Amino acid sequence: MMQMALANPGLVSLAAGFVDQGSLPVEAARRAIEGVLSESVEGRRALQYGTTIGDLQLRTHLIEQLERNEHVPAGTFRESVARTVVTTGSQQLLYLIAEALLDPGDIVLVESPTYFVFLGVLETRGARAIGVETDEGGLKLDALEATLQELKAQGMLHRVKLLYTITEHSNPTGISLAEERRKPLVELIARWSGEQKILILEDAAYRGLTYSDAEAPSVWRHDPEGETVILARTFSKTFSPGFKTGYGVLPPALLETVLRLKGNHDFGSGHFAQQVLDRVLADGTYERHLAELIGLYRRKRDVMLAALDEHFAGFDGAVTWTRPKGGLFLWFTVPEGLDTGPDGPFFARCLEEGVIYVPGALAFAESPGPVPRNHARLCFGVPSESELVEGARRLAAAYAGCLETVA
Ligand SMILES: Cc1ncc(COP(=O)(O)O)c(C=O)c1O
Repeated sequence: MMQMALANPGLVSLAAGFVDQGSLPVEAARRAIEGVLSESVEGRRALQYGTTIGDLQLRTHLIEQLERNEHVPAGTFRESVARTVVTTGSQQLLYLIAEALLDPGDIVLVESPTYFVFLGVLETRGARAIGVETDEGGLKLDALEATLQELKAQGMLHRVKLLYTITEHSNPTGISLAEERRKPLVELIARWSGEQKILILEDAAYRGLTYSDAEAPSVWRHDPEGETVILARTFSKTFSPGFKTGYGVLPPALLETVLRLKGNHDFGSGHFAQQVLDRVLADGTYERHLAELIGLYRRKRDVMLAALDEHFAGFDGAVTWTRPKGGLFLWFTVPEGLDTGPDGPFFARCLEEGVIYVPGALAFAESPGPVPRNHARLCFGVPSESELVEGARRLAAAYAGCLETVA
């Protein structure tokens, strides 16, 4: 799809999950890089290898930042510094967790729909992903309980190792896990953890990019012993993916295995990027940049929603979409029976009109099936405001074209 977009410059791509090109913090990064290199001792330190777990000063600052995000007194999470691992984007952490925990045939519960790249990771491990229903409040706890009940009845409970949830402004739906479900989720998983411990992997890749409401405390926050929830964070969305730096706060029992695996992968993420990020965190640059991003993406979201409202007004509510309070995505639904897949009629019409999206079917685990084929993920992060308007117009024209064919 990226190739299609590159080959046809007139195409509006609502597919790529990249960040806004114009927002990338060139000046802020230049200042921080110059700062790191302005003094030769610090400069050489930054250009040397670091450690597998990541720079201690950065990890300390990350945990302090987490304390501010979660509105708890300074020092509350201090003991977590020792089990915070800096990773090459959060993607590396997702991979390492899968490698550390999963044997072929193990089961991972995921949201329906979920981040499709993680489904690929699970496939590589030979693990089985089972989807759990979501609604406008994210993961449905009654559906989760029913899935666990069913697996128990099948004698498969001992194969369930992990629940993966994208708690803030999810990729692909833009939906966040409702605040009132967060503590009960941790309790539910703790209740179902038997001899075989079940962990929660909280992927908070879009945390911070919030345009309407304050964000709820993380799920991780409801696990004070830190034994059940793995928190995955990244600077890719809120600062720059070019630094490819993220981090995980791990349960103590998992730390050594993950560090051993990471040691085998790279014995530490880029030390220079860590020093630069530490500077932008320490001097307030990061917070200022995030505030600008929030303004920018809020406008883009509003433009996208208004354009969809306008161009789909004539279809009597047959086509719907989520109204995200943050992040970069919305989830678009056409009537069942109209296939949005890459070989289906809607995608073909969209290509003719000059707009592309990510087919929703990619974001569903095959179990329990059948995979719905009438959704699409739309990203409003990359296109300009005028491209978003044009993209919505083209989507509506493609939809109208499909209706004509059916008629
Ligand atoms: C939900 C989610 N998790 C993790 C990632 C990985 O991002 P990175 O490795 O750049 O931190 C992404 C990137 O798109 C994502 O959407």
